[in-house]
Amino acid sequence: AASVESWDKPLAGKVALVTGAARGIGATIAEVLARDGAHVIAADIPAAGEALSETANKVGGTALPLDVTAADAGEKIAEHVLERHGGLDIIVNNAGITRDKLLANMDAGRWNSVISVNLIAPQTLVNELVERKALRAGGAVVDVSSIAGIAGNRGQTNYGASKAGVIGLVDTYAPILAKEGITINAVAPGFIETAMTAAIPLATREVGRRMNSLQQGGQTVDVAETVAYFANPASNAVTGNVVRVCGQSLL
Ligand code: NAI
Repeated sequence: AASVESWDKPLAGKVALVTGAARGIGATIAEVLARDGAHVIAADIPAAGEALSETANKVGGTALPLDVTAADAGEKIAEHVLERHGGLDIIVNNAGITRDKLLANMDAGRWNSVISVNLIAPQTLVNELVERKALRAGGAVVDVSSIAGIAGNRGQTNYGASKAGVIGLVDTYAPILAKEGITINAVAPGFIETAMTAAIPLATREVGRRMNSLQQGGQTVDVAETVAYFANPASNAVTGNVVRVCGQSLL
């Protein structure tokens, strides 16, 4: 940052796109970025339906039904932001899925779908946006990794590998995007109370809660505030980092 500035509406005039914004962590990220003054484009799969419009309405933003794994997803985002806003300042790759199975039963379908949504999409979207000159200088890419990408987790080889891969993306892209004046960082949440973790069997859920650095399930806003920090122009010297939120190693 050039000087000590007020943090009141630090994202005023900025356009931010959040994937997986219909619910959970993504919906709260949309809220926090809008609170900080950004115009938020909330993206999620078409099947998210009403929930997506609800997020968009709540934050005074725009809903963009979009499957991040679609071959034309990057093109669609680039066209949307170039036509309506002249570009995009912030992209939060938050959309993510789990398809858990112990390694012996880990089939190709589970492996491929998790890698596609959690790892390939964040890479493809950023590539496309940069190639199409849709990401503006001064902007920020924030990827949502996971403590499972740092420490691993039983039954989650596919998920852990995808989230570790996201950290590799951040490391690799940081110097490349720096040339464009764009930062890229990741948050690695521990156990956060959302629909995703509500699907975990109770006993495992309790282990997750205890391993959280707060010793209880974290809240979506814990993650969202860290994303907001990376999106804030005050952190324009901060790139290539992975920050654990509510997370410590499970072992
Ligand atoms: P969630 O399941 O509540 O929400 C995920 C959202 O992503 C849903 O609205 C879903 O429709 C959307 N989505 C899924 N596939 C998509 C696709 N192909 N295209 C567009 N949108 C898609 O999950 P939650 O808990 O809010 O997780 C958000 C992110 O945080 C994920 O990347 C997840 O892996 C990560 N995370 C979550 C943790 C937790 O404890 N809840 C811990 C660590 C990371």
